[in-house]
Amino acid sequence: MLPVSPDLDWLKKSLTATLDAPEPDAQAGGARYLVDFLGHYVNGSAVTMVPMARMEQLQACIEDVLRRGVPGDLMECGVWRGGLPIFMRAVLKTHGVTDRCVWAADSFEGLPEPDAKRFPKEAKAHHGALMRDGFRHFAAGLDVVRANFERYGLLDGQVRFLPGWFKDTLPDAPIEQLAVLRLDGDYHESTRDCLVHLYDRLSVGGYLIVDDYGEDEWTDCRAAVDAFRAGRGIDEPMVQVDRRCWYWRRAR
Ligand SMILES: C[S@@+](CC[C@H](N)C(=O)[O-])C[C@H]1O[C@@H](n2cnc3c(N)ncnc32)[C@H](O)[C@@H]1O
Repeated sequence: MLPVSPDLDWLKKSLTATLDAPEPDAQAGGARYLVDFLGHYVNGSAVTMVPMARMEQLQACIEDVLRRGVPGDLMECGVWRGGLPIFMRAVLKTHGVTDRCVWAADSFEGLPEPDAKRFPKEAKAHHGALMRDGFRHFAAGLDVVRANFERYGLLDGQVRFLPGWFKDTLPDAPIEQLAVLRLDGDYHESTRDCLVHLYDRLSVGGYLIVDDYGEDEWTDCRAAVDAFRAGRGIDEPMVQVDRRCWYWRRAR
């Protein structure tokens, strides 16, 4: 059994800004949730916009691959303010792991423009007032993310950044093997680019987490995952974390 560190529990609360405030109810939908989401995450001090249930699930995946010796680094594609890569680095540090890296891939300038012909739902959301003026297309600069790592004392040689669009940075990224790969690029093409360029580098026994698989109102993320799985004959069962996030464990 790996020891459970109380420091990681404090860190999860700090990153999600829930030390002294409740988190928005991610199981809920509708206008109330959007208002809470905007206030708590985007306009608040949170360093990640994922709810605690997804932080717990990420920690469980990382500790499982460490326990079972599944080889590879940890990676998030679509990091916003960097909260989850910061947490990944903290889990490695807590368990004294010095031979794995954390990769953080992002444009560091927000979501890309969706192809309006192929993905009209995404294009409509992208140009809507909420996404443009409220969420500001989830843009957070690399300077902001690096500063967040530094605030937590976790910026070191085991952290690697891949700034740019996934389609440009991932094909030749110097990543050999991944044990945990978390996709949070929201849109269809962003999700597909990550799967196409990274799935073959995910170790058998490793985890593939898709933050927006259950989000059908404004993204076509689910269709990208389903098409990739069908095309590659991937039949490992997908497991639901909460209303929006799903994952599977690579079996072969
Ligand atoms: C919803 S935010 C990610 C939230 C983050 N995982 C967290 O824990 O708060 C989506 C991120 O994906 C990035 N992104 C989406 N598509 C991308 C692409 N094709 N290339 C690079 N970055 C992309 C955006 O810049 C943004 O930072």
